[in-house]
Amino acid sequence: MAVVYTVAQQKGGAGKTMLAANLAAALAARGRVALLDVDPQRSLARWHDIRGQREKPAAAISFAEVSGWRLSAELDRLKRNHDFVLIDSPPQVDTDAKLAVRGADLVLIPVQPSPPDIWAAEGTLKLAQAERRPARLLLNRAPAASRLRDTVVADILARKLAILPTVLGNRTVYAAAFAEGLGVTEASPRSTAAAELLALLADIEGVRT
Ligand SMILES: Nc1ncnc2c1ncn2[C@@H]1O[C@H](COP(=O)(O)OP(=O)(O)OP(=O)(O)O)[C@@H](O)[C@H]1O
Ligand SMILES: [Mg+2]
Repeated sequence: MAVVYTVAQQKGGAGKTMLAANLAAALAARGRVALLDVDPQRSLARWHDIRGQREKPAAAISFAEVSGWRLSAELDRLKRNHDFVLIDSPPQVDTDAKLAVRGADLVLIPVQPSPPDIWAAEGTLKLAQAERRPARLLLNRAPAASRLRDTVVADILARKLAILPTVLGNRTVYAAAFAEGLGVTEASPRSTAAAELLALLADIEGVRT
């Protein structure tokens, strides 16, 4: 049975799709990975299409897109023959987002270092609590050590929100890798972004053990 990670955050543009794609690509080196795209914007679908058409093939990742009442059945199907399932969810709290959270072993909530992201994350955390699923914030697109970053982390800690220790910086390699249908660990394995992503994966695995 697969481990299911759902990336959720009702705030748009926080980095859900980027994170789902990059975690999938990194995990594809370790086991059988499936992506479940619940977001009608389909950017993950396009990333996966590009990946499948590469001249130099990348590790295979299964892909399914689904919404509504079929979501839970599709997730069960993917869980049976994969080691990891990553769910990318839409930027709102609707039935699909709820079902995506309900199916997760761990909910990952990317937040950019700005108050609206953190306020929105509290809503997503409440949803995870209501569904009794473990959830963690993770700081994404953070500037290098700065007052803003310190203030945001202090605010998150003051609110007693559970956050993963690894912070993902604002790095151009994400967009470059995405355009090639790859994750940063594949496109730029020696980059800081790749090192951060692997550290994040270790944090995530640490939550589950
Ligand atoms: N750590 C990062 N460094 C640089 N760019 C990033 C980073 N994370 C995300 N981005 C960029 O930010 C933009 C928004 O990211 P993404 O599409 O993953 O957000 P999202 O939460 O899925 O948005 P939506 O809510 O619309 O689905 C994209 O252009 C993405 O490449
Ligand atoms: Mg998205």
